[in-house]
Amino acid sequence: MSFISISNLTKQFSDSALPAVNDISFNIGKGEIVSLLGPSGCGKTTALRMIAGFENPTKGLIKVGSQLVVSDSAVVPPEKRGIGMVFQEHALFPHMSVAKNIMYGLKHMRKNEKLKKVREMLELVELTDFAESVPANLSGGQQQRVAIARALAPSPHVILLDEPFSSIDASLREKMRQDISTILKKADATAIIVTHDQKDAFAVADKVVVMNNGMIQQISTPKELYRCPVNCFVAQFVGKTNLIQGIVDHQARQVHTALGELPVLSGVYAPDSKVMLSIRPETIEVNAMGKYNGMVDRIVYGGDTQEIHLTVNGNENQSRTPIIITAPINHDILVGHPIRFSIEQEAVTIIEQ
Ligand SMILES: Nc1ncnc2c1ncn2[C@@H]1O[C@H](COP(=O)(O)OP(=O)(O)O)[C@@H](O)[C@H]1O
Ligand SMILES: [Mg+2]
Repeated sequence: MSFISISNLTKQFSDSALPAVNDISFNIGKGEIVSLLGPSGCGKTTALRMIAGFENPTKGLIKVGSQLVVSDSAVVPPEKRGIGMVFQEHALFPHMSVAKNIMYGLKHMRKNEKLKKVREMLELVELTDFAESVPANLSGGQQQRVAIARALAPSPHVILLDEPFSSIDASLREKMRQDISTILKKADATAIIVTHDQKDAFAVADKVVVMNNGMIQQISTPKELYRCPVNCFVAQFVGKTNLIQGIVDHQARQVHTALGELPVLSGVYAPDSKVMLSIRPETIEVNAMGKYNGMVDRIVYGGDTQEIHLTVNGNENQSRTPIIITAPINHDILVGHPIRFSIEQEAVTIIEQ
């Protein structure tokens, strides 16, 4: 059963040609963490603002819990939607202590209930010792935890976070992803996290909604997105990949490509059709006995692995095809030398027909 449902949500700003959000629909289960993932300008913030109630949709329905908050006949104001929001820049009150910031949204509670709730929240985000500090004396990560505590304190139906990692130093992001994920799961919160960074989305989300140009491209678990992207945009947006064109053979067991024949799951695809294949760099194996070969152009060392950039010389008049392989460090692989590799059927995903 979906707890939140977004149907045909659209926003057309009057001063632009294309809709910022174009007919998107998705559901969220109770306690589920969903990430809206896509490049800058694809409509993520606009979608989030419509769900929160800060922006009126041009079209669409939004249901939160049992309440239809946006419909053809009515629009519920933000404060009546039971939604907590964590803004990109935290937006903490600078002159108020951490405890007062968290208490801010608890106006309708009795004093002792408020204090109990604040203690609970401080514990949840592990800032009990900082209750009386002002935000300026906290690190970026700590400020962010205060913002989350403040949003969670009134026990909203759903909490929305817009690019929660964007102001955090790269070195601390991994820890913050872990912290946010732990806090949201401990609080049993239903959450939507907007991000343009695939690593953020994969680390925290149960389910990822990939957007581009205002439209949804794919909705999947992180694992499925990575393994079975539905189009070239998703394949490239969620990690490095080799995109290779080909033609399915008569028996639909192999695909003719510039690399040679590539194995695919038999029978799934129309014989003789044109397809695009995606093969992740780490699924290709450097192998002296491998069926495929090319010339190493460049090697990028990355600590425990290396990225081998090579080109395959096509037969006949085919152009040279660039390939990337991510492999364990092997000193026998040299720039300007030939290389052989193998590709298993499981590594090959057909993404467009
Ligand atoms: N208030 C607004 N008025 C006009 N255009 C806007 C407004 N807000 C956002 N846009 C446009 O809508 C598109 C999507 O923006 P946004 O939702 O902020 O994207 P994202 O959060 O994915 O970066 C962009 O082209 C942006 O310029
Ligand atoms: Mg944004």
